[in-house]
Amino acid sequence: MDTVIQRLPLPYIFFIIACFLLGLLENAVSTERTTYIVHMDKSFKPESSTTHKHWYSSIVDSLNSDKNSSFHAGRSLTATPSSLLYAYDHAVHGFSASLSLEQLENLKNLPGFVSAYGDKTLTVDTSHTTDFLSLNPSTGLWPASNYGEDIIIGVLHSGVWPESESFNDNGMTANIPSKWKGTCAEAGQDFDASLCNLKLIEDGHGTHTSSTAAGNYVDNVSFFGYANVTARGVAPRSRVAVYKVMWDDNVYASDALAGIDQAIADGVDVISMSLGLDNLPLYEDPVAIASFAAMEKGVVLSSSAGNDGPGLGTLHNGIPWVLTVAAGTMDRSLAGTVTLGNGLTLVASPHGVIICGETLPVPKQIKRVTQAKLAVPKLAGAIFISNSTRRLNKFTCPGAVISPKDAYDVINYVESSENPTVSIKLQETFLSTKPAPLAAVYTSRGPSPSYPNILKPDLMAPGTLVLAATVPSTAGGVGYAFKSGTSMSCPHASGVAALLKSAHPEWSPAAIRSAMMTTANPLDNTQNLIRDHDLEFASPLAIGSGQIDPNRALDPGLMYDATPQDYVNLLSSMSFTRNQILAIARSEAYNLSSPSSDLNYPSFIVLYDDQMTASRVQKFERVVTNVGDGAAKYKVSVTAPEGSEDTAIPETLVFLNKYEKQSYSLSIKYGRDIGGRVSFGAIVWVEENGNHNVRSPIVVSPVI
Ligand SMILES: *[C@@H]1O[C@H](CO)[C@@H](O)[C@H](O)[C@H]1NC(C)=O
Ligand SMILES: *[C@@H]1O[C@H](CO)[C@@H](O)[C@H](O)[C@H]1NC(C)=O
Ligand SMILES: *[C@@H]1O[C@H](CO)[C@@H](O)[C@H](O)[C@H]1NC(C)=O
Ligand SMILES: *[C@@H]1O[C@H](CO)[C@@H](O)[C@H](O)[C@H]1NC(C)=O
Ligand SMILES: *[C@@H]1O[C@H](CO)[C@@H](O)[C@H](O)[C@H]1NC(C)=O
Repeated sequence: MDTVIQRLPLPYIFFIIACFLLGLLENAVSTERTTYIVHMDKSFKPESSTTHKHWYSSIVDSLNSDKNSSFHAGRSLTATPSSLLYAYDHAVHGFSASLSLEQLENLKNLPGFVSAYGDKTLTVDTSHTTDFLSLNPSTGLWPASNYGEDIIIGVLHSGVWPESESFNDNGMTANIPSKWKGTCAEAGQDFDASLCNLKLIEDGHGTHTSSTAAGNYVDNVSFFGYANVTARGVAPRSRVAVYKVMWDDNVYASDALAGIDQAIADGVDVISMSLGLDNLPLYEDPVAIASFAAMEKGVVLSSSAGNDGPGLGTLHNGIPWVLTVAAGTMDRSLAGTVTLGNGLTLVASPHGVIICGETLPVPKQIKRVTQAKLAVPKLAGAIFISNSTRRLNKFTCPGAVISPKDAYDVINYVESSENPTVSIKLQETFLSTKPAPLAAVYTSRGPSPSYPNILKPDLMAPGTLVLAATVPSTAGGVGYAFKSGTSMSCPHASGVAALLKSAHPEWSPAAIRSAMMTTANPLDNTQNLIRDHDLEFASPLAIGSGQIDPNRALDPGLMYDATPQDYVNLLSSMSFTRNQILAIARSEAYNLSSPSSDLNYPSFIVLYDDQMTASRVQKFERVVTNVGDGAAKYKVSVTAPEGSEDTAIPETLVFLNKYEKQSYSLSIKYGRDIGGRVSFGAIVWVEENGNHNVRSPIVVSPVI
């Protein structure tokens, strides 16, 4: 990222914008400026400009000096001239700057202009996992990848709390990989550069998300005695580079773009992005644009599906070239026993949470209790009454949650006793809860509004009540907390992607995603299909291909690959203008004249609507690469979604060598007589005399 105001830490830039906006407010006749993200065609850069940054600065200068601009018309005395906010060169070609509408119109006439759109705010998807994922020191992905050694994960979030024990650098090799081009940032917001080490190699404050992806080993971690385990991330030996893109709870697209731009320049291998934008076309979605550049450079971008479930079509980051991660529950549940002074005992869950009268929302009640606890140290904890565990992820003091049906006993006892006492026995952590995983109620669902013809999300990872490092002051001083959300599931997938990249450095981002998807587990720990929060079977619109299965992903057998040109062919098949495609692809070197909506993707979706009068047949062509150890023969097994007829041709694929490619077609015949329901099935290529099952979900969904 070429930050133009280079020596100012980002908060100052934000401060300047804030002051600038205040200035505008004070001025009755405002020349309202908006921050725009501007895409430019670099081939128009004049010889006189030595760098792209110089070129962009001179453009903004020329807009300021335009005699007709409002600034010079003297209508806005307090406003400063427009200046560059960021010059981008890796994720996009272009810049961001605050411009008036007039300046924007003048800009559009300048040579090299491609497109511009207003800055947007992004949604942050926050609301014993390695054991549950069967990661194991003696066999599988951990040893094969050396725990993600020498992989750099770039985490875009609110920043990290570097003193956390999860970022200790015990056991890290001394040489930070030479591909790393970044630096430990100068002191940022409450951040001292001396806190960087061999583990944490870049600045900021996303402690929870980055320790989930790549936290180092810390013994004896617990939350008030629950889930007493050795805390570790999915890729404990990977380096973490955190890019702070969130200030005061707001994430602006321009900041997120700058974070991805910097991560690409710094040489990260995986970008973990637990935030996203809703309801934007791909060519205006900074995550889509920046992740295209990352994909071209072989960087895997893993992103969160969002926490707006369980309605259909609520998902963000449904971008064809990224990994989109849904959230599920784990097989761990937490409980405690409440014993009243009269001897009555109740089973409590520490996270089903709340009491305190019903006037305040539960999270506010927790906050009140936490504040009271600071003021009255004697206050030991609280009992909350609730039968819902939704959005109760801010539990910051010892407490127990009892169900409403038990509440009367507690209230009666407290009211009728002169000196009511209670003991709460916490530290009861139950493992092997069944069924698990379940799709989390909050996880956002497909079809993807930005492109419904690719099945999204891609897969599911644990996201509910994940124990990971946090800033101690926000968690009752323990340094670890439970959190729920796709913000928590995304870094699990990022960690697995890092391990795969370490074990298979030659795999493309599409190959890594394919390996994770075709090996994902559609079954829960009762060996039935994974269920949704309401205990109906979960559709792939909630869980994608299923629960991530890291050890199987190491050795997927077959692979669905895709090149940057394949994605451009997909873009060319959409009703986008040339400039809209170029805003994403950024290069004339791509062939824009070979449109194809049939991307070589490891999943299938067809959409029906009320306009359909007869049944339709949609035919998909796929190419699979043999990444097993030699010759192999696969036979197809198709489970057609209810109401459809599915045919794969041929039914057998024979490979003589490793890396050989074979193609097949899948025809799906479907009507609209499914009554608005989503139905689903799968196509599985089963290896004969081998142990690979290469599975892709098939969905028939109404248009949302
Ligand atoms: C400035 O505005 C005047 C009147 O609106 C117009 O005639 C003139 O062409 C404009 N000049 C430029 C440089 O846009
Ligand atoms: C683990 O934590 C408990 C409670 O805080 C403490 O008493 C014990 O010494 C710790 N054990 C280790 C091995 O650090
Ligand atoms: C957590 O487990 C460790 C090792 O099993 C034990 O020493 C410690 O006392 C436990 N801590 C708590 C708080 O139960
Ligand atoms: C939760 O408790 C309330 C009050 O007792 C009840 O009305 C509601 O139906 C319960 N919800 C569920 C999902 O059990
Ligand atoms: C672009 O693709 C089309 C269709 O595949 C092909 O006919 C054309 O020759 C390609 N153009 C270039 C410049 O490669």
